[in-house]
Amino acid sequence: MLRRERKDLELALNVYAPKKIKEWGHIMRFLPIDQIQEGMYLARNVLGNDGRILLVKGTKLTKSYLQKLKELNYRFLYIGETPEDFEFRGPVSDETYTKAICTVRDSMIRAAKYQSLDLPAVIEVADFMLDEVMEEGVVYNIIELKNHSNYTYLHSVNVGVLSVLLGKALKLNRRQLKEMVTGALLHDIGKVYIENPILEKVGRLSAPEYEKVKRHPQYGFDLLRGHPELSLLSAHVAYQHHERADGSGYPRGLTAEQIHYYAKIVMVADSYDAMTSGRHYREAMWSHSALAELQAAAPEKYDPKVVSVLSQVVALYPVGSVVLLNNMEVATVCDVTLKKIKLKLLTGKNKGQKLELSRNSRLKIERRLS
Ligand SMILES: [Fe+2]
Repeated sequence: MLRRERKDLELALNVYAPKKIKEWGHIMRFLPIDQIQEGMYLARNVLGNDGRILLVKGTKLTKSYLQKLKELNYRFLYIGETPEDFEFRGPVSDETYTKAICTVRDSMIRAAKYQSLDLPAVIEVADFMLDEVMEEGVVYNIIELKNHSNYTYLHSVNVGVLSVLLGKALKLNRRQLKEMVTGALLHDIGKVYIENPILEKVGRLSAPEYEKVKRHPQYGFDLLRGHPELSLLSAHVAYQHHERADGSGYPRGLTAEQIHYYAKIVMVADSYDAMTSGRHYREAMWSHSALAELQAAAPEKYDPKVVSVLSQVVALYPVGSVVLLNNMEVATVCDVTLKKIKLKLLTGKNKGQKLELSRNSRLKIERRLS
């Protein structure tokens, strides 16, 4: 980059400091709830803990809605200037996503109470997900799926969706995808046998607490293999998702040759979702930082091929990201597929105009601002 260009870029970055970005919040963004004002519109459905729709997309947010959502521990919402602001679609429909959350939740409750599962329900939801994700051109918009207050069920469903996208790109057939996603949806089911205070602890776990947490893959495997109608390979997804290629994982310290391919896929989906989620003890990472971290950890920890496919199926700039373009203008991402990124300009003489990045060969994203 020429010195002058660099100077322009630095200038632009100063001008578009976070304070300025906040002012664009009303256009269409994924925002921390504290920055959301009355009168803004919800751009995505807000789901309750049971997976049902709590507030429907297009709802005008009132003071009491915002207060209630804060009390319910929602930290971020998708908001728009008008109810029609968002045009993109996620990898699965809201209905299937809601159904998947309900099913994972019911499975966990049932496993904790009766040590059993309603497998047909899980298998049915896996089928729904496959039907939708098998369509061409779907990209995983990671932030889109974070519109929920309950991490456990949400995480399981996210890992399921991302595993299917990875498996599909890695050319698994439908039977294999189904075996894998069933295991992915239930990969953390063994956590229901670990005390809540440990799972919800803020800050570092003590050594004995960590030892307890490390038992959840074994607990999950023991529960799942007791169901003969479930493929043993699905049970092994739960058993092996914390193993690592160099033998540093748990519970058995398996090495690359000993870990099943499904588990190699699901562990990448699991780590990526954990990194980009921002639990209460840690800030969420942006997709490109999480990808860079996983690439640095492969091949010691992860299958390099799975990690390289991940960068093709997750959106580097998810819907709602604010980006700086190489012409020093700022835009927000309003739609992403495998082949195109659609932007809406936030600055310049064409402010408000929408454009497709691939149709403008000279236009590039310089960096993500928010
Ligand atoms: Fe886990």
